Amino acid sequence: MQEYTFIDQAELDREAAYRLIIGCVVPRPIAWITTLNADGSVNAAPFSSYNYVATDPPMLAINIGARGTGFKDTARNIRDNGEFVVNVATEAAMEVMHVSGAEYPPGASETSALNIPLLPSRRVKPPRIAASPVQMECRLDQAIKLGRGGNTLYIGEVLAFHLSNDIYDGKYVDSVKMRPIARLGGPYYAALGEIFHRPLLKNPPVNEAAAAPGDQETPA
Ligand SMILES: Cc1cc2nc3c(=O)[nH]c(=O)nc-3n(C[C@H](O)[C@H](O)[C@H](O)COP(=O)(O)O)c2cc1C
Repeated sequence: MQEYTFIDQAELDREAAYRLIIGCVVPRPIAWITTLNADGSVNAAPFSSYNYVATDPPMLAINIGARGTGFKDTARNIRDNGEFVVNVATEAAMEVMHVSGAEYPPGASETSALNIPLLPSRRVKPPRIAASPVQMECRLDQAIKLGRGGNTLYIGEVLAFHLSNDIYDGKYVDSVKMRPIARLGGPYYAALGEIFHRPLLKNPPVNEAAAAPGDQETPA
């Protein structure tokens, strides 16, 4: 019989809880977020506690941890300006994206320090990262303090999408061509692996043959 390790959350310290949750929730997409610092310089940092959370209008949510008793630059800038851009992190930009996650001094511009080419946005002030094939201009909708206060969920409304024509055909985003990079637990990233095609089922299968569509295929 399969054996499991049982862990009661109440017995975990912060570090152990973090290690477990980031190992269990995988793979995670990475929002490479650009914001404006108080002096107008551009801040960039990656965040993988991230997903879309609404579609009407489209909304994204990012959990940003505290830095000591204060805010990470991204969180502070979002709170101050109410604007940010989520740039999709890809395999091609993995190295520079990773380095931009280092703790630069408060107010420093990672995009200047790392020579990250930028493009102007149209609905918000923070610019887009040119290396990303998808950039989403966002306006802060709400910030929700979570748990004991060490994490805050920033929910943003997507005001505009920028989609490279290399990965967008006018209707669908080609995620294979996009080559997104994902975060795993520990110091690991992953690229897309095998892709499976299964259209969404409207109704449950009515019999076993329908439940195993492979069996219905006509032999060659
Ligand atoms: C791939 C990756 C994912 C990360 N995800 C998160 C995250 O979801 N939340 C968070 O608070 N920090 C996350 N970090 C750490 C931040 O990027 C890091 O604290 C960074 O220095 C914040 O920069 P800022 O102060 O310019 O905002 C991540 C780092 C990396 C490399």
